[in-house]
Amino acid sequence: MSGIRFPENFLWGAATAAYQIEGAARDDGRGESIWDTFSRTPGKVYAGHTGDVACDHYHRYADDVAMMAELGLQAYRFSVSWPRIQPDGSGPVNPRGLDFYDRLTDALLGRGIDPIVTLYHWDLPQTLQDRGGWTARETAEHFATYAAAVYARLGDRIGTWTTLNEPWCSAYLGYGNGVHAPGVQDPGAAFSAVHHLLLAHGLATQALRAGGTERVGITLNPADVRPADAESAADADAVRLVDGLHNRIFLDPLLVGGYPDDVREHVARIVEPVFVVDGDEKIIAAPIDLLGINYYAPTYVAGRPDGAGGGGAYPGTAAAVEFLPPVGPLTDMGWMIEPAGLTRLLERIATDYPPVPLMITENGAAFPDKGSSDGTSQVRDEDRIAYLDGHLRAAHEAIARGVDLRGYLVWSLLDNFEWAEGYRKRFGIVHVDYLTQRRTPKSSARWYQEVISRNGL
Ligand code: FCB
Repeated sequence: MSGIRFPENFLWGAATAAYQIEGAARDDGRGESIWDTFSRTPGKVYAGHTGDVACDHYHRYADDVAMMAELGLQAYRFSVSWPRIQPDGSGPVNPRGLDFYDRLTDALLGRGIDPIVTLYHWDLPQTLQDRGGWTARETAEHFATYAAAVYARLGDRIGTWTTLNEPWCSAYLGYGNGVHAPGVQDPGAAFSAVHHLLLAHGLATQALRAGGTERVGITLNPADVRPADAESAADADAVRLVDGLHNRIFLDPLLVGGYPDDVREHVARIVEPVFVVDGDEKIIAAPIDLLGINYYAPTYVAGRPDGAGGGGAYPGTAAAVEFLPPVGPLTDMGWMIEPAGLTRLLERIATDYPPVPLMITENGAAFPDKGSSDGTSQVRDEDRIAYLDGHLRAAHEAIARGVDLRGYLVWSLLDNFEWAEGYRKRFGIVHVDYLTQRRTPKSSARWYQEVISRNGL
C-alpha cells in the first residue's frame, strides 16, 4: 500500500460550481438562471431544494479559501455564474458580478492557490432559455461575448480557462430526458444543443485566444462504455452506439475535426441537422491546451436487437440498448465503484486521439456522511477515502502507462446542491451543516491533505 508518487508539478486541488455553492441568488444584480426556474418547479428537484442559499459561499468565500489553504490545496476549480455577469445573458455587463470573482481570485492567489475557471457549469441565463437556450445558435454567440467580458476582467490573473463543464449533461439531461434544467424532452433538441454547445466552446476559445490566454480547454465526462458480454456481437454494437453518442460526438469534433460518420447517421435519423452550418466544425476544432476529464463510474450496456432495451439518456437508443443495473458496492448516488474504468478511459483517449494534456477535473463520491452540528467531532468517511484512494491509484496507473495527466481535482470541496438530488447527496471532503453553514473537514479532507503533502499515496 505504499510508494506511489505522482510526477513533479502534478497539480492537486478541488472543484465546485457556482450554482451548487454560491447562494446569494438575488445579490448584486444577479439575473435568473435556468436552475432557479427549474428548482422552483414542483417535482423537479428533491424536496423542492433550490440554490438560493446553498453553501452561502458568495458571502463566506474568504473563510472557504482560508480553509482550502489550510488543507494544502494547490488549485481550485470554480465556475463563473453567467447571470451574475450578464443578468439577461447578453447586453450590459454587471460589474458587481465580476467584482465577486475578482475578490475570489485575489483571495486564492493571496494564498498561493491556482485558480482554474469554468465559464459554464449549467446555469444558463433564463432570458436566453426563453429564446431557445442551447437550441438557438445565438446562445453560442452570446457565450463568446460573455467569455470575453470575464477574460477582460480576470485574464491578467487567471492562467487556466475552461469553457464548458460536461456538455453531455447540458444537452442530453437538459433537452433530451429533461432530468436537468431546462427540463425539455425532445431528442432533436438534444442534438441541436450538443452542436451549439460545441460551437459555443469554439467561439469562446477564439475570444479567449484573442485576449491572449495561455491555456484554454474544456471539461467532458467521457464514459468508459463496457459490453455486458465481451463475446456478444450485439453488445459490441451497443457499445459502439453509446460510445458514439457519449464520447466520439464530443471528442472527434474537438480533437480530430468533425463528427464521426456513424454518429451523423444516427442523428440524421432523429432530426435533420440543419443546425450544423458550413465552417462550424473548423471553429470547434480550434486547438486546446487542456482536456478536463470528469469520471465517476463505468457504463455497462447490452444490445437488444429485439427492441426491448430500457431507455437511458441517449436520444434514439431506447429500444436497441439496455443499460445494465449497477453492481455493488455502490455510492449513495447508486453509482458503481470501478477505478479500473478511469485507467481505461484515460488510456483510450491518449491512444485514440492526438496528444493533449489531460487533467481529472472531477472525481469523487457521495456517501450519507453523518456530521455533528457543533463541528467538534470528525466525520469519518472511510468509504470516501477508499473511493479516492482507488481512483488515485488508477490515475497513477494511467500515468505509468504513458498518459499525459497533469493534475487531479476532487469533487467536491464542500457538500453542496447536487442538482436534481438537492442537498441529500453529499460529495464534499468538507461537511456542511446547512442550518448553521458550519464547515467540518471530514476524515477524507485530512487524508487528502496528506496525499498532497507527499505527492502520493
Ligand atoms: C458532475 C457535475 C458536478 C457534480 C458531479 C457529482 O456531473 O459536473 O457538478 O454534480 O457530477
